[in-house]
Amino acid sequence: MSHNIAVIPGDGIGNEVMPEGIRALEAAAHRFSLDLNFTEFDFASCDYHERHGKMMPDDWRDQLGGMDAIFFGAVGMPDRVPDHISLWGSLLQFRRAFDQYVNLRPCKLMPGIKSPLAGRAPGDIDFYVVRENTEGEYSSVGGKMFEGTDREVVIQDTVMTRTGIDRVLKFAFELAMTRPRKKLTSATKSNGISITMPYWDERVVEMARGYPDINVDKFHIDILTANFVLHPDWFDVVVASNLFGDILSDLGPACTGTIGVAPSANINPEGHFPSLFEPVHGSAPDIFGKGIANPIGQIWSAAMMLEHLGHMDAGKAVVEAIERVLAAGPGDAPLTPDLGGRGTTGELGEVIAEAIKNG
Ligand code: NAD
Ligand code: IPM
Ligand code: MN
Repeated sequence: MSHNIAVIPGDGIGNEVMPEGIRALEAAAHRFSLDLNFTEFDFASCDYHERHGKMMPDDWRDQLGGMDAIFFGAVGMPDRVPDHISLWGSLLQFRRAFDQYVNLRPCKLMPGIKSPLAGRAPGDIDFYVVRENTEGEYSSVGGKMFEGTDREVVIQDTVMTRTGIDRVLKFAFELAMTRPRKKLTSATKSNGISITMPYWDERVVEMARGYPDINVDKFHIDILTANFVLHPDWFDVVVASNLFGDILSDLGPACTGTIGVAPSANINPEGHFPSLFEPVHGSAPDIFGKGIANPIGQIWSAAMMLEHLGHMDAGKAVVEAIERVLAAGPGDAPLTPDLGGRGTTGELGEVIAEAIKNG
């Protein structure tokens, strides 16, 4: 079976890590006899914005909607286009228009990587953040009033719907059912955010009724961030609203050494629309052009895409290749500087692709 994959490198290091993601996919396709057809798009980038005055062409939905998956790099060059314009004009549109309501972000301490948390070894940190991805704090409801006066007011409402919460909770509970520990933690803030968050908690209690085998707990987001650092071994599946999930999914990977390895899957579980696979990190303007960006977040996202497309064996082989190369350590593998090595993006991508081919 062939798969049509939209490739959108975007901005900054998105352009440097994307070729390594493709190289890994091509290696997996070769080994597992997969037929992957890539179509590259130059929109959803600040370059495109500079040429056209907008982030995407008007028919972007038609161009992408029929694809089997979208493989995405990163977007944003805040010195050239304000972030809220570039992001609301691209990535956040994809998530909404294609109803990618689950943002699945694994967080795992890999062999060979030193955690910044003292005494933590692989196995101590191995959980998923399941982030609500289409509503919540990321809403376009609100506005500015009395602009330019000293009575200026800005309002942005949080929007939570029963359907929106229940569907992401269901995904998280189902995921927890597949895990040996069967544990689910809900991120809340129902002590301070007094309408939406108590409602979130209510829906968690209601959903938990259908999953008596799952051990459910909850923490307010402030102490939850502390517990990520102090007790990362407590967590298995962590479900969170859009903003809380965003924060937790940078903190979690930072506890595993570097956000450069973290992948994500923006999923439309029903398969009505293409799902989108991208690293958690952004376009990293501070290191763009130096050739030192870690390509593993992009490559691991490729593995999640292969699994989503039904090729579990190929996805697993890509993750195993990453683990083997990391386990070799900075002395033997060309790891990038964020991993304590002196390798380049291309060198690390190449050894991982070789490891995928050789199995
Ligand atoms: P960032 O993730 O781009 O960078 C944060 C820090 O992590 C930087 O010091 C960077 O050098 C480092 N880093 C990130 N990825 C790395 C990698 N692969 N290897 C090594 N180091 C890496 O976050 P930021 O600086 O807040 O944002 C920069 C731009 O990216 C902004 O425009 C922001 O809006 C955008 N952004 C986009 C996405 C996305 O497309 N999904 C995600 C986050 C941020
Ligand atoms: C992410 C990013 C985006 C988000 C930004 C760039 C809008 O941080 O994918 O985590 O907040 O979702
Ligand atoms: Mn983020």
